Amino acid sequence: MDKLIVKGNSDLYGSVNVSGSKNASLPILVSSLLSSENLELTNIPQLDDIMNMKKLLISYGVKVKDSANGIILNANNISNKITDYDVVRKMRASILVLGPLLSRFNKAIISLPGGCAIGTRPIDIHLQGLAKLGVKFEIENGLVKARADNQLIGNYIKLSFPSVGATENILMASIFAKGKTIIDNAAREPEIVDLVDCLKKMGANINGEGNSKLEIVGVKNLKQAKHTILNDRIVAGTYIIAAIMLNKEFTVNNINHKHIESLLAILKKMGANLKIYNNSIKIFPTKKLKGIKIATAPYPGFPTDLQAQIMALMGLASGNSEIKESIFENRFMHVAELNRLGAKIKIKNETAYISGNIKYKGAQVMASDLRASVSLVLAGLCADGNTTINRVYHLDRGYEKIEETLLKCGPKINRQKY
Ligand code: UD1
Repeated sequence: MDKLIVKGNSDLYGSVNVSGSKNASLPILVSSLLSSENLELTNIPQLDDIMNMKKLLISYGVKVKDSANGIILNANNISNKITDYDVVRKMRASILVLGPLLSRFNKAIISLPGGCAIGTRPIDIHLQGLAKLGVKFEIENGLVKARADNQLIGNYIKLSFPSVGATENILMASIFAKGKTIIDNAAREPEIVDLVDCLKKMGANINGEGNSKLEIVGVKNLKQAKHTILNDRIVAGTYIIAAIMLNKEFTVNNINHKHIESLLAILKKMGANLKIYNNSIKIFPTKKLKGIKIATAPYPGFPTDLQAQIMALMGLASGNSEIKESIFENRFMHVAELNRLGAKIKIKNETAYISGNIKYKGAQVMASDLRASVSLVLAGLCADGNTTINRVYHLDRGYEKIEETLLKCGPKINRQKY
């Protein structure tokens, strides 16, 4: 296993280029299962989750080869086998294969995903939506066995919550369904819009992306397509927060500011000094940061995937802050670790109360999930002394070689095996 040793009181200068989005890449990679023609993708980030997803697709018989700028996937000849529990357990996004497999074969069997560190994460909304398209389910021996008697049939589906994964799964299931499908209360995240954009290039008939009502009219088949993955708004947000914490002049490139409006609004209210350009954000030092109350929410609200990072920032602000975590039931595991670094954070139910004006001090900490890990990196960079972050494999699932990316801008993060 790897650990990171983060040198504190770090410098930060220059700029960083944001890579392709993990959460857009995963469903788009899965969408290749829908087509028997080539799908060429560029701007795919080099992350462990992406490698795992490619392995999963290859296990179904998808051919994956490198192209000049990216990869070409071809699912002309695939076998509809049982999804391995080991893959589903490691990467919840593997349940997204259910939609495309049902759309193409009218049946699929996947391992039931387990809970994970940030909550129980059930799949009831996925299954209820797919049932409305005519799919029947049996759940036994840890497997979800899904089958439709005939071709899936379009229907009106109202999600009980705008789940990102359920929206993607039902959307992909409806691509070849007979007639029209409406997904109401659909998730509106930019990653969903990117998936729709790619599916449309493949020949799907979809309207309403970015709104809470998606309309899909079934088509007979899909065609060859090329798509460039959207850039990662969570990675961009993380680097913006890092620059504010270190109080340095810094530029984050390759980001559409509209995708992080909720973050930018909150940072400005806290006193951050930001200049927003078409494709980049420049951060300048600020004299005073103040505490704020926020709540995570589905897009366009404040993203839960930036909750741990902004919490690390709040410790440095003057006055107290509060974060209500409204999306996941157990996404505060970074709190104990940030407290080891000198933060003063208390949790009551789904709200974290953060005291400001602290100075982080280097310590040994443990990474619990992807975004929690990066919040520890941010705090470590501002700390007095060194911070050792154990179990960093979570970080590699979502940040492309973070120590190499940051080294070019000043921070010194050393990776060691243990
Ligand atoms: C996606 C993102 C993840 C992000 C999350 C919320 C990917 C690969 N991952 O995860 O980074 O944190 O959106 O923005 O894109 N739920 C149910 N039943 C369901 C489905 C979800 O109760 O059938 C609950 C979940 O337990 C969770 C909440 O709904 O509490 C949000 O989950 P969802 O939007 O589905 O997140 P994911 O797609 O898993």
